[in-house]
Parts: sequence; C-alpha cells; structure tokens
Amino acid sequence: MKNFWKKLNKPILALAPMAGYTTSPFRQICKYHGADVVYSELASATALNFEGKKTLKFLEFDKSESPFIVQLFGNDPKYFCNAAKFVSEKVKPAGIDINMGCPAKKVFSNGSGAALMNDAEKAREIVKETLKGTSLPVSIKIRAKVGSVTAYKFIKKLNDLPIAAIMIHGRSLKQGFAGEINYEQIRKVKSLVDVPVLANGGINSPEDAKKMLSRTGADGIGIARGALTKPWLFSQTKQFLEKGEYQEFSLEEIKKAAIKHANMSYQSKGKHGIVEMRKYLLWYFRGFENAKEVRKELVQVESLRDIERVLKNII
Ligand SMILES: Cc1cc2nc3c(=O)[nH]c(=O)nc-3n(C[C@H](O)[C@H](O)[C@H](O)COP(=O)(O)O)c2cc1C
Repeated sequence: MKNFWKKLNKPILALAPMAGYTTSPFRQICKYHGADVVYSELASATALNFEGKKTLKFLEFDKSESPFIVQLFGNDPKYFCNAAKFVSEKVKPAGIDINMGCPAKKVFSNGSGAALMNDAEKAREIVKETLKGTSLPVSIKIRAKVGSVTAYKFIKKLNDLPIAAIMIHGRSLKQGFAGEINYEQIRKVKSLVDVPVLANGGINSPEDAKKMLSRTGADGIGIARGALTKPWLFSQTKQFLEKGEYQEFSLEEIKKAAIKHANMSYQSKGKHGIVEMRKYLLWYFRGFENAKEVRKELVQVESLRDIERVLKNII
C-alpha cells in the first residue's frame, strides 16, 4: 500500500471536505496557495454502485491537486467495497476518506455521516469493506462528540483497524458548525493512535492554526470555511509557523487571486464555471465595507470580463 500520509511534512495543512465547494478548481486554488492535501466533496458509496459513471465526472481531478482524497459516505457496508474499488481504478486518487461526521439531516437520518459514531460496529464494517476494495490509504473524518460518544471512545473501538489518518472536527454533533472547539478530545485521540491526526474547526487565521496545533498536539489541521474567505490561509499559516509573522493580502492581491480562481473555473467548466464562481466571490469579498452593492452584482456575473469589471468597483 502506497501511503502518501507518511511522506507529508508536518504539520500537514489540509483543505477539509465541503459539499458544494471543494470542487476541482477550488482545490487547485488551495493547492496553489499551499494546501498539502485536499479532500473532495462527499460522494455517495451507494450511488457509486448504481450510477458510477455519473459520479465519476464529479470526482475528476487535476494532477496539480495531488495528493487528492475522495470522501465517501453511506450507511450500508456492502456498498463500500465496490465503491472503493471503482474510485481507486477510475478516479485514482491518493486516498479514500469515510465521512463519519456529517450532521445534515439527509445524511444523518439514514444512518450515515455522524450517525456512524453511534454505531461503532457498522463503522468498523464500513472501514473493513472499504479496505477490501482498495490498496489506497483509508482515513476517516469524525466529530469530537456525538451524543454521549466521544471521539476518544469511538476511536478506541476502531483502533485495531489499519486506518491511515483521522480528521477530527472539534465540535459535537449538537454544536453543528459553531461554538467552542473541544481541544481535549483531539489531544486524547492523538495520544491514542500512531497515525496522523488532523484537527479541524474554527481555523480562520494563522493564529487560530497555531493555537489549534499547540492545544491539541495534532499532526496537522483541516481548514474548511477559512479557506473560502482566504485560500491563501495555507501559505500564510506556513509562514507564521516558520517565521512567527506573515504577509497580509492587499485588496489588489485578493482581486488577483479571485480572478485566477475564476480563470481556472472557466477553463475547467466553461460558462458553468463562471456561474459556480459567484458563490466563491461572495466569500472572497465578505465583510468589505462597500461590498454590499457589489455583492448584488457579483451574483449576476456572466463572464470573466464581468468579474473583472465588478471587482474594479470594490475599494
Ligand atoms: C458548506 C459545507 C459543506 C461541508 N461538507 C462536508 C463534507 O462533504 N464532508 C465532511 O466531512 N465535512 C463537510 N463539512 C464540514 C467541514 O469539513 C468542517 O468539518 C467544518 O466546516 C468545520 O471546519 P471550519 O470551522 O474550518 O469550517 C462541510 C462544511 C460546510 C460549511
């Protein structure tokens, strides 16, 4: 088994998976700005068994994204072996991840995502089936707590399996996507396992990243929404961890970065890439004082020229 996780320098800076956002052009942008590893949006293991070709398109990636991880979700172990096999042969990513942390009703209510932390037996079966279907490293993404099950308790039940890495969103299921990070749980899991542990949740600045690493002792971090406002957060974090300071991006640099992203999106998806770009542009220019008016225009852009014109009006 080629395990890329073992070759990565620490701390590992990962782009965490985000449905609707961690598409190929966005992953390329994050890689360009210093991400060490990038995750796909979650993909259904069941769908891969029945409509694999359709899902294939959505999982395509560019070589520049490597190492790229495909994240699977599902509730039925029997679909994971084939899904992992199919992804390994057709998509050829560097690794496969299993979602055990998603709180979305559609996912959780049928026993997938975070619900798996309440059912360690099923979670074990899913990991085993996935491993049967692939020789790629298989990682998992979990939460700090689901009901009374802590990350530590859960990992203790899976610790004999050859899981290659663990990303922990340091919030409970109840907390959803806001609130304090449970550093303690991440630290406890880190002391229990020998594989890379990535700490995730609430990292929006290099200072947050440093705090997360020092409080948890984790081998790396996962950045999700922070990368939507600042894909360059990865390189800034590297600078900060190495030198104790980092370069802020000027407005002109932000505009340049957004235009680069738009170009990649267009190259990858044509006109649809521009439509897709609208939601990212809103993240890039969040919180800018005069951006209110501009935001109305950003959600209507139709071309690269349109984007350049609207961005000129942001001051
Ligand atoms: C829009 C959105 C989509 C997400 N989709 C996924 C997903 O597909 N798989 C997953 O494991 N986590 C998903 N997450 C959770 C993130 O990976 C991450 O754990 C969470 O946002 C906390 O990190 P942050 O505070 O850096 O945003 C998603 C989060 C957001 C905001």
